[in-house]
Amino acid sequence: MIRNLFITTALPYANGRFHIGHMMEYIQADIWVRFQRMQGHKVHWVCADDTHGAPIMIAAEKAGKTPQEFVAEIAATRKQYHDGFHLSFDHWYSTDSPENVELAQDIYKKLKANGFISTKTIDQFYDTVKGMFLPDRYIKGECPKCGAKDQYGDSCEVCGAVYAPTDLKNPYSTLSGATPEMRSSEHFFFKLSDPKCVEFLREWTRSIDRHGVPRLQSEIIAKTKEWLGEDGKMGDWDISRDAPYFGIPIPDAPGKFFYVWLDAPVGYLASLKSYFDSGKAKANGESRTFAEFLADPETEQIHFIGKDIAYFHVLFWPAMLKFAGYKAPDSVNVHGFIQMAGEKMSKSRGTGLDPLKYLSIGMNPEWLRYYIAAKLNANVEDFDFTAEDFMARVNSDLIGKYVNIASRTAGFIHKHFQGKLFERETINLFPDAVVGVAADEIRDHFDQREFGKAIRRIMEAADAVNSFYDVSKPWELAKSDPGSSQKIQLHLVCSHVIESFRVLSIYLAPIMPTLAAKAFEFLNIPPQTWADVGNTLPANHKINTYKHLMSRVEESQLDALLDLAPTPDSRLNGVNSTENSKAEKPSKATNAPNLSGVKPKSQNSPGASSSDFINIDDFSKIDLRIAKILNAEHVDGSDKLLRLTLDVNEKNEDGTPRLRNVFSGIKSAYAPEQLVGQLTVLVANLAPRKMKFGISEGMVLAASSKDGDNASGLYILNPHTGASPGMKVS
Ligand code: 2FM
Ligand code: ZN
Repeated sequence: MIRNLFITTALPYANGRFHIGHMMEYIQADIWVRFQRMQGHKVHWVCADDTHGAPIMIAAEKAGKTPQEFVAEIAATRKQYHDGFHLSFDHWYSTDSPENVELAQDIYKKLKANGFISTKTIDQFYDTVKGMFLPDRYIKGECPKCGAKDQYGDSCEVCGAVYAPTDLKNPYSTLSGATPEMRSSEHFFFKLSDPKCVEFLREWTRSIDRHGVPRLQSEIIAKTKEWLGEDGKMGDWDISRDAPYFGIPIPDAPGKFFYVWLDAPVGYLASLKSYFDSGKAKANGESRTFAEFLADPETEQIHFIGKDIAYFHVLFWPAMLKFAGYKAPDSVNVHGFIQMAGEKMSKSRGTGLDPLKYLSIGMNPEWLRYYIAAKLNANVEDFDFTAEDFMARVNSDLIGKYVNIASRTAGFIHKHFQGKLFERETINLFPDAVVGVAADEIRDHFDQREFGKAIRRIMEAADAVNSFYDVSKPWELAKSDPGSSQKIQLHLVCSHVIESFRVLSIYLAPIMPTLAAKAFEFLNIPPQTWADVGNTLPANHKINTYKHLMSRVEESQLDALLDLAPTPDSRLNGVNSTENSKAEKPSKATNAPNLSGVKPKSQNSPGASSSDFINIDDFSKIDLRIAKILNAEHVDGSDKLLRLTLDVNEKNEDGTPRLRNVFSGIKSAYAPEQLVGQLTVLVANLAPRKMKFGISEGMVLAASSKDGDNASGLYILNPHTGASPGMKVS
């Protein structure tokens, strides 16, 4: 049965550029949307800028612009992210639009007519200089408990006390510095405490959708039980703000506006309406009108959001829709945050991985899509972005396993068989590993937003294909005479492998649409749908010559992206090198060629030419010192590094002993306790290197086996007895 899907992602505030958290949500939704489209379902994915509210109004004023000019400038920055990361939104709109005014006011009027709106007079701080009521975030003062100055209106950062803004001593407006006055004003409330509302929310939050799947994830259901409380007492929700306010006027209430969170989710519907009214929905095969589509019981309304805004989406929003006579959402899919070494990449601080910088240094957007997919599941869990993991997944899995299949097979087909596959219908030799059971599992994982599991299963399939290739030894078969049974065997093996590559490309298409499109072009076939998994390439099908499908991630790109300045000699024998030296080498399991075209550096070169020599002056530039390892410990988030505290007999300016902090890539060879108390050799004048775990102040020397890739072949240097910390090694 064809599904009719109305999909949304959270509307971003129009006061800043996108950060990686936005991109993660859009990529998650985009993968799901593309997967559903490949299933043949009708999908309409809309989003918009969330434009209203006091912070945007104030930011616009500071910038000397009208709020409309301000949000228009932000809106103009969105396209480069959408295009850059291959996001297939069907429509992007704005909450500052006539459609949103009409819909928000309509919902409000219906709530009012149904008895769900009340009014109450409340007291609030008023800034007489700015002539406006002050949202709590713009009031500061002295903590009523400990007296600390400049504390926000809700809690004290010094003693941790929690209080109301009216409890602050000597309060002041952060907008004007003036002492605010207490003034009263009438506010409008949505009566969430109405027993009908609580009863509805209790039932809705715990119910299942039309497919028998819970509407909400178990973590969110648990939260709603907490929020709704067993005695069913929800507070009413203050939905009004006084002028001046950048928002939508409340009907029949001059000077009153909807609080931004009232009209923001209505923006989902406004964007959908604009999408329909503009004719885009029709062009996308939708013949119904907006109103028909929205009211149709067949339409599934599904929201993708972050865990920080679950409260609004699983309580306020379904209740607003329900009691205004609209259909409540079918499900709300909540995700966690992407973090950098355990720290949330904050919306407000925008720290960490900048998406535009990522693109500007030439990093492939589909690497990030693949990485994010590999880390995502259907739970509300945070995950860490680490450079090492990113590099390993892209270079070892994606390139080493998947791309490699095409690159190493195509040559045989062209050299020996004029680019044509086997003359008989290709039979898939690995039905359960690549199609059959695997296909069903991969489809279900995608459908359930278990993208990490889908990728694991796809990579297992790629492993099966690579193993088949390896045991078949096509390079040996290729030495046989034309027409011999071995040559026929070569043709058959390569045809099977190419056929499997086609199927793997279909599986990866929702995650990496451009890579899949290139793969289909190489295979000389049209874009594939999921149903094509069950088909095969025709007999004698001619494929195109292989063109480079995707490059490997370079360590220098990640260094540039994350502001980790590399030192020129950071690769010396693998110690204190970056964490990624392993991932840069071809995958042994798959005999992957080094696709970057750069030969791995040889670690020892017995036949060195004269230009490889250095003179004594060169050598004396390196300040080698005996160092005592005072402490060694694991580094959170790193499976290669140990943190060493070294005594090199140095002093700080004030005469206190100076100890060095050095990160060393020797974790695979040593337990920290083995190292404590040992003497070793330190490159003491290496420029300090900023790593994501801290600053490394030098490099400990170690010997390693010749490829530097063998964990057991790594030995730190120890001096003979008698050497002491600080001695120069020359
Ligand atoms: O938290 C935010 O970024 C909000 N702008 C999300 C709004 S989602 C929807 F309700 F519009
Ligand atoms: Zn305090």
